Amino acid sequence: MPRFPFALGCGVLFCATTTSLAAQRPSDALAPTPPMGWNSWNKFACNVSEQLIRETADAMVASGMQDAGYRYIVIDDCWQVARDSAGTIVADAERFPSGMKALADYVHAKGLEFGLYSDAGLKTCEGRPGSRGYEYQDARTYADWGVDYLKYDWCHHGTQNAEASYRLMRDALDASGRLITLSICEWGSNKPWLWARDIGHLWRTTGDIKDCWVCERGLSWTSILDRQVGLESYAGPGGWNDPDMLEVGNGGMTLVEYRAHFSLWAILAAPLMAGNDLRSMTPEIRDILTNREVVAVDQDPLGRQGRKVRDDGDVEVWAKELADGSRAVALLNRGESAIAIAVAWPEIGYTEGLRASVRDLWTHRDIGQVRGSYTAEVPAHGVVLVRITP
Ligand code: GLA
Repeated sequence: MPRFPFALGCGVLFCATTTSLAAQRPSDALAPTPPMGWNSWNKFACNVSEQLIRETADAMVASGMQDAGYRYIVIDDCWQVARDSAGTIVADAERFPSGMKALADYVHAKGLEFGLYSDAGLKTCEGRPGSRGYEYQDARTYADWGVDYLKYDWCHHGTQNAEASYRLMRDALDASGRLITLSICEWGSNKPWLWARDIGHLWRTTGDIKDCWVCERGLSWTSILDRQVGLESYAGPGGWNDPDMLEVGNGGMTLVEYRAHFSLWAILAAPLMAGNDLRSMTPEIRDILTNREVVAVDQDPLGRQGRKVRDDGDVEVWAKELADGSRAVALLNRGESAIAIAVAWPEIGYTEGLRASVRDLWTHRDIGQVRGSYTAEVPAHGVVLVRITP
């Protein structure tokens, strides 16, 4: 009989630890579920401007993304150009003529939250000024502007210690008096899952995601997925493994592949940071990003990261335990032709004789009551995502 897969994860001890940390600083309570929002990098790279951010905030509301739970609008690299004579960070005045405070006000007026990017080293990855040596000053500036979220990168870090560098910025953010969510972006180089839980709210586990099923350079979402195995127990309310931002809607993959990408990010309890152009997305892409039943799997209050319960080469079964005792199960077909994939109840911690109802979270159909196992036909590069409730 296979071992109950969820007993390996967050146990009594782990949850007790989380609770005691949550009492330490007000900012610890900022991410009870994985953060959701939008970030400029995957689609726009350095081509950011206040017009883009305003239009994205408008689109976040008009498209239904806000209603589905997305709330942060984050400007990634390249918004900053210099420091002034007092050392204060200076935003690009050509691209952001109204300034960051006005832009944050605009985003806040929509009921959304505003995020910026910096770097723990001397320079950002695109060579803009980093925060090294200016941590407290930058944190105060962000607080003055109304920043709610900081993504903090790891380029040009020289001989800096990662944990100390991120803790320094966390202390600076806390001292600023504003509650600011901290996204640790050191690509998993120093195993942040071992030390980041009481420093940041999410920590990248790998290098950068790319918008391709098979990528010549960089990491496909499936190769990032492979690298999440073993990290499950480190995620939970307050701090999350971050397998990187979404590529859904950026044009390099099919709808079937994007649905699979989004489904597996939900199973992983990953932060859901959309990375596409919200102003021009098709209804099909919007329907993926706003699928409430899939978002609910990601945002489930129990906060368990799902795990791979079977790996038969191209066929994988992933499962996530949910607060009501049900399981979200992803039947993933990484192969080149459609195939029937089954999940047996013991693989997801249920006894064989248990009667459970099965609901398909992409077709929004109740399949009915089943006993022992469930089998579905899964397209090539696709997923069938179901919720199984005893
Ligand atoms: C790194 C990060 C990316 C992005 C770029 C910006 O590569 O991992 O997510 O922020 O820097 O330069």
